[in-house]
Amino acid sequence: MSGAVIIGLCNQKGGASKTTTVASLAAVFSERGLKVLAVDNDPQGHLSLQFGVDALRDKIANTVSQVYLKEAEVRDTIIETGQGGVKLIPASIALATVEMNLPGMPANDLRLRLGLQPLREEYDVILLDSPPNLGKLASNVLAASDYFLVPVDGPWALQSVSTLNKVAKDNATFYNLDNKFLGLFLTMYDRTKIMQAVREEAEERWPDRVFKSTIRRSTTAREAAALSVPLPLYAADSAVAEDYQQLATEVAARSGIKIGGKGGR
Ligand SMILES: Nc1ncnc2c1ncn2[C@@H]1O[C@H](COP(=O)(O)OP(=O)(O)OP(=O)(O)O)[C@@H](O)[C@H]1O
Ligand SMILES: [Mg+2]
Repeated sequence: MSGAVIIGLCNQKGGASKTTTVASLAAVFSERGLKVLAVDNDPQGHLSLQFGVDALRDKIANTVSQVYLKEAEVRDTIIETGQGGVKLIPASIALATVEMNLPGMPANDLRLRLGLQPLREEYDVILLDSPPNLGKLASNVLAASDYFLVPVDGPWALQSVSTLNKVAKDNATFYNLDNKFLGLFLTMYDRTKIMQAVREEAEERWPDRVFKSTIRRSTTAREAAALSVPLPLYAADSAVAEDYQQLATEVAARSGIKIGGKGGR
């Protein structure tokens, strides 16, 4: 594989911390000297908001919608976030209409993949957010990614893993795409029996795919979201930021992302 490693954060369960994780890993990888692009791929636009970008308020003409519709050169959809050097393709609610119309369009599962292709040589890591469903936008993420990574915040989130693997397998069969399950990690973790049971079940079902790193439950994450600063930048010395540092190290090792000397912990 040459150029960027593309990782999609997927889980059709809502609120599992996909967006928080895209923003946090993007900030950490960028801090470690990598060229990082984060792609908002959810009509909610939460990843954009996490970086302080409101596409409607800021009257941003080119968003990820234009990538799907091929209405703009992909490089013209990228904006500087001013947050740790991370670049962003933002999204707005207009993406909901794009998703509704996608089924009638040619190559509708592959549009994100085709759109991002020219950027592979320009970045080290491209992180894709997804919406909380398994519709066209989520399937585009699976088709566009080299790997998918699943945050698990409880038993319901665990159910998604099998479904995602099935879609990824279909992509392999029908599109000859090699999208791999990078693994799952536990998040919003607390010392309850429920989370212990989720960990045990995950390790039993996917023995080599459960990350050691675990993201603890912390109000710091919600504060960072409210203030539109990615968590590792908002509270670098917090325990939960340290959790994300460890996850980034494990994700890099497993996906082949090469981190240079700068900033690595
Ligand atoms: N480790 C954590 N501890 C506590 N709260 C967290 C943590 N991580 C994320 N959150 C909060 O949980 C909520 C859901 O997180 P987030 O938006 O990242 O999930 P999501 O999977 O992207 O949601 P959606 O499915 O709606 O896109 C947010 O308010 C976020 O700030
Ligand atoms: Mg989200």
